[in-house]
Amino acid sequence: MDDLKAKYLGLIAEAANEAALEDLRVQAVGKKGEISLKMRELGKMTPEERQVAGPALNALKDEINSALAAKKAALADAALDERLRSEWLDVTLPSRGRRAGTLHPISQVSEEVTAIFAELGFSVAEGPRIDTDWYNFDALNIPSHHPARAEMDTFYMHRAEGDNRPPHVLRTHTSPVQIRSMEKMGAPIRIICPGGVYRADYDQTHTPMFHQVEGLAIDTDISMANLKWVLEEFVKAFFEVDDVELRFRASHFPFTEPSAEVDIRCSWEDGTLKVGEGDDWLEILGSGMVHPKVLEAGGIDPAVYQGFAFGMGIDRIAMLKYGIPDLRAFFDSDLRWLRHYGFSALDMPTLHGGLSR
Ligand code: DAH
Repeated sequence: MDDLKAKYLGLIAEAANEAALEDLRVQAVGKKGEISLKMRELGKMTPEERQVAGPALNALKDEINSALAAKKAALADAALDERLRSEWLDVTLPSRGRRAGTLHPISQVSEEVTAIFAELGFSVAEGPRIDTDWYNFDALNIPSHHPARAEMDTFYMHRAEGDNRPPHVLRTHTSPVQIRSMEKMGAPIRIICPGGVYRADYDQTHTPMFHQVEGLAIDTDISMANLKWVLEEFVKAFFEVDDVELRFRASHFPFTEPSAEVDIRCSWEDGTLKVGEGDDWLEILGSGMVHPKVLEAGGIDPAVYQGFAFGMGIDRIAMLKYGIPDLRAFFDSDLRWLRHYGFSALDMPTLHGGLSR
């Protein structure tokens, strides 16, 4: 027994890690361990022998077990010490000089648009970028075989065989947020919904992911005149000009009736855009009076309520305002481009403090 004790206490003292320690435990006091086997031999002894050997073996087993526990704790302590040593950090060192990050023009323009519409009493609503085709199409009066579905170059989510849940799409516009907001808030309502949208398209003015802002105002007495005034106020504030002329062109969207596309008067001199003067027109958004079927889909009674809606490309108005020629550069993550076109993260755009200084 003395030999066993010396052997295991020596091995335990030298164990390099917890795994080695566990091996030793099995070897000594595990079911088939050396000491456990010895304990089985007690049965073959005479009662007198057993009276001596029994307590001695039990004491040995206890001693080995506590040596194992003590070594385990010591190993854990050592591991912690090692971590504390290697993860040590001198928090008193001076910080490294770094170039300040900048706000991406899309973030900047989203903030500018939000600030302007907030002043006009609109709050911000959001919806999911992955939505069902009901919210993205059907509820907006775009039934299955409507040509507008084909025109949208929709990304459909993959569905496993036998999956009967409604098909999901990457939303092709922010208009589904109209429906979700009507469902949630009812009428009257006055919201804008900025966010990312997706279409399978790629060239100088199209990227598979881009950004829109939706507007929606519903009440008992809202007319096209309100739409026109709101958009005029917006365009003046956004392009930071005193006066601007808007042109409403009759158009067609399934979710509005009547529908209009809106152009602003502008000029291009040496490739620079001037808003508010000149002989050119620049299309900036689609709009109209919300279709009764769309109100119904959102749970609002079209006999009582009516409203206007519009949808505008954020990337597009950012390109126009800040003279950015290629949409694709927005998504290249080129640091030189971001430093050139980026905005200070600390200047929040406000109408009184200035939108974009
Ligand atoms: N959803 C349309 C698009 O992506 C834009 C749009 C047009 C939104 C007219 C509207 C609207 O709310 O009234 O092309």
